[in-house]
Amino acid sequence: MDQLVEIKSKIQINPSRVGKKYFVKTFGCQMNEHDSERISGMFELDGMSKAISEEYADVLFVNTCTIRENADDKLYGTLGQLKQWKSEKDNRKLLVGGCAAQKDKELVRQKAPWVDVVIGTHNLTNVVDLLNRSEDWGPLTEIIDEIETLPTEAPSIRESEYSAWVTIQIGCNNSCTFCIVPSVRGQEISRRPSDIVNEAKKLVDEGVKEITLLGQNVNSYGRDLKIEGKARPYFSQLLEQLNDIKGLERIRFTSPHPKDFKAETIESVKKLKNVCNQVHVPLQSGSSNILSKMHRGYNKERFIEKVDMIRKIIPDVSLTSDIIVGFPGETEKDFQDTLDVVEYSKFDLVYMFKFSPRPGTLAYDMKDEFISNDVINDRFLRLKDLQTDISEKRYKRFLNTEQKLLIEKTSKKNSEIFTGRIDGGQLTHISKDNISVGDIVNVKIVDTTPFYLKAELL
Ligand code: SAH
Ligand code: SF4
Ligand code: F3S
Repeated sequence: MDQLVEIKSKIQINPSRVGKKYFVKTFGCQMNEHDSERISGMFELDGMSKAISEEYADVLFVNTCTIRENADDKLYGTLGQLKQWKSEKDNRKLLVGGCAAQKDKELVRQKAPWVDVVIGTHNLTNVVDLLNRSEDWGPLTEIIDEIETLPTEAPSIRESEYSAWVTIQIGCNNSCTFCIVPSVRGQEISRRPSDIVNEAKKLVDEGVKEITLLGQNVNSYGRDLKIEGKARPYFSQLLEQLNDIKGLERIRFTSPHPKDFKAETIESVKKLKNVCNQVHVPLQSGSSNILSKMHRGYNKERFIEKVDMIRKIIPDVSLTSDIIVGFPGETEKDFQDTLDVVEYSKFDLVYMFKFSPRPGTLAYDMKDEFISNDVINDRFLRLKDLQTDISEKRYKRFLNTEQKLLIEKTSKKNSEIFTGRIDGGQLTHISKDNISVGDIVNVKIVDTTPFYLKAELL
């Protein structure tokens, strides 16, 4: 059966909910944000409409993350506050889904019995059915271990009219020792290229100008598919197919894995006009010793070779990275290696995290080697200072240059200003005069900071 038909057939409209309001509260990464758009889509098929905030909602879905311990703490804190929300109006329904729900299962309702439905990451398309069942039979938990229906065909209510997420792959087959994602998102499964291209075309017809391809290892996309009789990475070919779509102006992707970076992919980024000039290379640590304990599949030298390869092909590329500070056993010398690689790589932006032990991962059992909070905090600040310095210098290369800016939204801090991104992905501020959200405008960069650029309309 066609997947969308199958998903629609699961949704039995419940007259008692038609006209009611829903709200989806999202924690975590882009995968969750995109899943939330799908959940919204299914709620709308069910006859509900979106509330402007949870205060006005009859049905509230909390989409959870569990990547670090504080994500778990935040969830149970939030659920504590939502007990009050439920009691403020009759017949309110509270649903909890996402990665923490997948991990904690029954525990969610044990800790917060006022939750009506607990649903995992693999059965999202059952959400309306579960809501109906909970109305008829009382609260319930449904967590399954393997995906049944890819949620990618479910309808979606996008947060932005002009930018869209496109899932190309779900799950992860790596086994980084710090990471809980494989246990809550399952095995890597690639979507068929034709499905992806068709979705992208449909989005363009709806007015989308920019897509971001999503997966945990996008550059190994396709290794589980047999295309032309061969199982092999297919990422650059996918980029080529997407680049040919008329009206699609920007293609981004996240997250690739450094070990799977091939020159072929970087050549495609360079050659394909609509693929943005930005590459994410999550370093995690610059120490070969720690990288080996993390099971990352590369060492310090190999990582530097990748950076060299990327910069040789595209000298002005914007590089970004993820780094974990304080992995078990990290010595001052190991940390110094991280600082060295950061200094060498000249990233535009680094997402930094303090190591957080996740139950069920190998690193969780390295308790004897855990690093004290004081040391982690000190290293974190040193890394932050170094990177702020590098970003400040790096961003100066844009000063007085002309760029194309996609206007995304009103700035949270200043309602007179729009924020958007230039091709390299850098956040850019511009005055609202004569422009609207969704425009791609020619601008000149007139000022820079370590965190964003300031532009004027040309
Ligand atoms: N698939 C992506 C990462 C997904 S998780 C990749 O391989 O790059 C996003 C980031 O969260 C990771 O890159 C890592 O830096 C951080 N992270 C994951 N688990 C963590 C943990 N236990 N403690 C601290 N940071 C963690
Ligand atoms: Fe986690 Fe590693 Fe998979 Fe990324 S590649 S999701 S860090 S296990
Ligand atoms: Fe994303 Fe958090 Fe899950 S980072 S994959 S929502 S654990």
